[in-house]
Order: sequence, then C-alpha cells, then structure tokens
Amino acid sequence: MLLIVEKSVETTTGMKLAADATWRQAVIRLHDIRYVRLGTRDLESAVRYATAVLGLEVARKEHGAVYFKSDSRDHTLCYFEGDPRDHTSAFEVDTTEELEHAGAVLERSGYQVTAGKREDAEQRYVRDFLSFIDPSGNRIELVHAPHHSGRRYFPSRDAGVTGFSHIGLRTLDARRDEAFWTGLLSARVSDRIGEAPLLRIDEVHHKIALFPSSYPGVQHINHQVESIDDIMRAWYQLKEWNVPIRFGPGRHPTSGAMFLYFDGPDGMIYEYSTGVRLITAEDEKTYRPRSFPAVPSSFCMWGAKPDIPEFKT
Ligand SMILES: [Fe+2]
Repeated sequence: MLLIVEKSVETTTGMKLAADATWRQAVIRLHDIRYVRLGTRDLESAVRYATAVLGLEVARKEHGAVYFKSDSRDHTLCYFEGDPRDHTSAFEVDTTEELEHAGAVLERSGYQVTAGKREDAEQRYVRDFLSFIDPSGNRIELVHAPHHSGRRYFPSRDAGVTGFSHIGLRTLDARRDEAFWTGLLSARVSDRIGEAPLLRIDEVHHKIALFPSSYPGVQHINHQVESIDDIMRAWYQLKEWNVPIRFGPGRHPTSGAMFLYFDGPDGMIYEYSTGVRLITAEDEKTYRPRSFPAVPSSFCMWGAKPDIPEFKT
C-alpha cells in the first residue's frame, strides 16, 4: 500500500508520533529494474565485449558513453568513460508523484537524495530521476518514464538474449540492507542463501540479490536467454573464445533457473540464465521465503562449484 504523508503534524506530541508512524510505513513501489551504468577506462574494449561476447546491440554512442539494448527498451546497460568502480543501478517507478514521494520518504529516513538534472535525465533517456546512496554505498537511481525504443532488439550475435533481468549487489551488512530494501523499498524476500537475500519487486523470483562483500558495487549482471540450448551453446562458445567461466552450467535450487556465469570487463561477472521461477499474485498468498544454507549445493543443484568469491562458502 502506498501511503503519502505530505508533512508531519506538530500540533501535539501524540499527533506527531502518529504521523511519524505513518511515514515509517511508507513504501516506495519499484516497478522494475531498468539499467546499469558502469564506468570503464577502456570503452572500446567494453563495447567489443558487450557486442561480440554478450551479444547486446549498440543503441547509440554519445558524450563518452555507449548505450546497449538487450530487449525492446531504449537501453538496459551503459558503459561510460570513467572510474571502473563507478556503478549505478536504476529502478523504475510508475508516476511523477511516486518519484516525489520516494524522494520525500528517503530524505525523511536520513538519505541524501539528489534530484536528477535535466541534462542528466536526457542522457539517461528518462523523463525524471533521483539518485541516492544505499546503506552499503551503492548508487541507486529511481527513474520515471524511461524511453521505449519503438523497435525490436537486434542482437550483435545469436546468444539468445531475451532481456536484462537482475543484478547481484554487494552489501556490507546483508541483514541491514535486506531491511532497507524490504522496508523503505517494495522488495520482498523470495529466498535466502546464508545471509544473502534474493529479492523480488515483481513476479520474477529475484531482480536484486544482496551478496555480502567488503566493498560496494554491482557484483553480477544477468541477462535472460531463451533456453537451456543457449546456456550450453554459450558454455562451449565462451570457452572457445577463452572467456573465463566462473560458474556453471548449473541450476539454482532457489529460482530454478539454469545458468552460466563468466568474466566481463573490469572484473564484472555476467550471467546468462533461463527458466527463472515466477511468484504470481496467487502464489503470494501462501509463499514463504526459504532459507538455504551457505553451501555450494544451495547455489547449484547439479553440483557445479562457483569460482566467484561472493558465492564461496
Ligand atoms: Fe544471478
């Protein structure tokens, strides 16, 4: 439920407490994950990787940045000339009012919110946005009215990509950040592996997963592919191209998705997966998150062992 409290009531202590209690319940409704922006010192190599290896389509190159399509949206990934530790993840909200509400809720909860400037909104191909830093130091943007492309995604290679779907985000304190994402934002816990929560913001089992780490940033970027054939084809193809495989092929017992994780530029891990479980509105009535122990079989039910520090137990 979305509750909007314009200002706290200060006429009596009792009323102020009631108003505070109301805004603490306020929830920012995230509609979907939208894009990731990553800095790089070698834009040319990042572009080569994103097209020739990942199979994404260049939407445009401008102002020292390259935008990539993975589905019919304007773009879902942007590499720009900058610090490779500079990562931003963006989530969509439905209306201008919800964006304003989000800013108010975050500020009242002690987060510094920056309203997006017009030229920055233009560079992101959104109508409006705001940005803030999550409790672990991750830059998050909330965007309203991001552009649709008006045409199909035309892949650079036939990797079977059907779209950008989720990110792994580093957390310095998984319990605290789970409370942040489920409390202020509208995420719900689908499952946990050890301390790491897999969070949904729509029917898809997870759009964000918080992995304990000693520093902030995006830990992995997932694109969905059409079928298990695309996973296995990628496994053989990437090995032939000497792209280091970090995990898989395998199947997550949590989401049921079959997966392959492999190296990207600047230490980023990319993932292809297919067959992710949906938790429908009907399922919501009875669904309870499951806790999987922090052991390799919680990451892969087929027996693959991860070569990814945040997945090691
Ligand atoms: Fe993933």
